[in-house]
Amino acid sequence: MKLSIVIVILLSFKCNGYEFPEDFKFGVATASFQVEGAWNISGKGESIWDYITHNNPNFIHDGSNADVACDTYHKTAGDVQLLKEISVDYYRFSISWSRIFPTGHTYSPNADGIRYYNELIDELLANGITPLVTMFHWDLPQALHELGGWPNPVLAELFVDYADKLFEYFGDKVKNWITFNEPYQICDFSYSDGILAPAYKQKGIGGYLCSYTVLIAHGKTYQLYQKRYKETQNGRIGITIQGPWFEPRTDSAEDKKAAENMLQFMFGIFAHPIYIGDYPKVVREEVNRLSTEENRRRSRLIAFTPQERDLIKDSADFLGVNHYTTFICTPRNAEIQEVLPMNTDGGASCYQDDEWAAAASRWFRLVPWGFRKVLNWVKEEYNNPEVIITENGYSDLTGELRDCDRISYYNSYLTEVLNAIHEDGCNIAGYTAWSFLDNFEWVNGYREKFGLYYVDFEDDDRPRTAKMSAYVYKNIISLTQDKL
Ligand code: NOJ
Repeated sequence: MKLSIVIVILLSFKCNGYEFPEDFKFGVATASFQVEGAWNISGKGESIWDYITHNNPNFIHDGSNADVACDTYHKTAGDVQLLKEISVDYYRFSISWSRIFPTGHTYSPNADGIRYYNELIDELLANGITPLVTMFHWDLPQALHELGGWPNPVLAELFVDYADKLFEYFGDKVKNWITFNEPYQICDFSYSDGILAPAYKQKGIGGYLCSYTVLIAHGKTYQLYQKRYKETQNGRIGITIQGPWFEPRTDSAEDKKAAENMLQFMFGIFAHPIYIGDYPKVVREEVNRLSTEENRRRSRLIAFTPQERDLIKDSADFLGVNHYTTFICTPRNAEIQEVLPMNTDGGASCYQDDEWAAAASRWFRLVPWGFRKVLNWVKEEYNNPEVIITENGYSDLTGELRDCDRISYYNSYLTEVLNAIHEDGCNIAGYTAWSFLDNFEWVNGYREKFGLYYVDFEDDDRPRTAKMSAYVYKNIISLTQDKL
């Protein structure tokens, strides 16, 4: 059974006429809070996710926390062997800010945190795996939250100090950095819609204030690297944005505008300042409708000064794109049942087609063609930037080892990546599957499983077992590396 599925997938990859370019890089991804555990060990500080899971367990649907999670903190050598076994080029992981700086500021580093990441990075390099490191994947130090979190612009300075230290500690070995993972989720989901920690519901303002801070932090980090480290370390810096596809309900101008507005409010709000030099026009116009030219700096969508625009423009050497699913959009309509709260300032309501096959997550239906469309939208909108697909993957509830649905998800989505590269000329350089391991899926706890490896969370030792998808993925990678 196992072998026959592997062969079918391999055949489909050989037979669809296209192969991944020789220098295309494959990997798997995780994030510190979702896998590390060791939440308070050896001087680590509390993050907003530690805080919310301990103080508001109802916020997590299965009442769980990530105190131990996959315990990757204690399993560096074994996990890197698993990574090696599936032949990945990249391991994308994130650094827990509060493990290195327990209160978020850089005055008092935690030696154990620096040791831990050095060991992980060294182990990866010793096994021929390139680290792709996210600086911030949602686990803000609680102490910085108490200063107001991302809506407070002072966080930009504190982030740049943190990034500076990461370059100093690890930059001789890490050459691929991602400043932020999914700024829309960091901002709107956390400060406008309240569905991620710290669960603030300041709709219409919290998300925008946060977006400004995050963009300034990203731009300043990029400029700092160019000035102080580029020459000696010669690395690359990008940012990862979540890019669902938004399909117009019909061909009507109204539906098309609704879908395009969602793309701009979710993706363009971050990518536009970086690639074009300011927030998208529609975002500026809609959000600033009530403010005058003079008070824009005090608007909920803080206008950039010319100097700020300059520091953000052209501040990415590559663009990370996370993609899972597609929504259908139409002008705002109260009768439409939305699967996720979304920014409504673009005047759209979005939903999913019940006919589309569903994964385990509430917001997640399988629409492979949407992947190709969003990759093409990025290409057209930003002049074909280099893209690394930093997340794509499938959730189930069972964690079954014969995970045929996950295999066909990867098969169909990777086929669309091939189409985007070969038929459309999209500049896609790499792909890291989400996720290496089953892990703590934020508010959904351990229920929704995205891993290529099953993790037994009932067992104190958190043993890992390869699912069939891990074998298939390994073979897809090996085929590209020509190592079969
Ligand atoms: C995107 C996030 O970056 C990641 O942390 C999360 O687990 C996946 N989406 C799946 O929801």
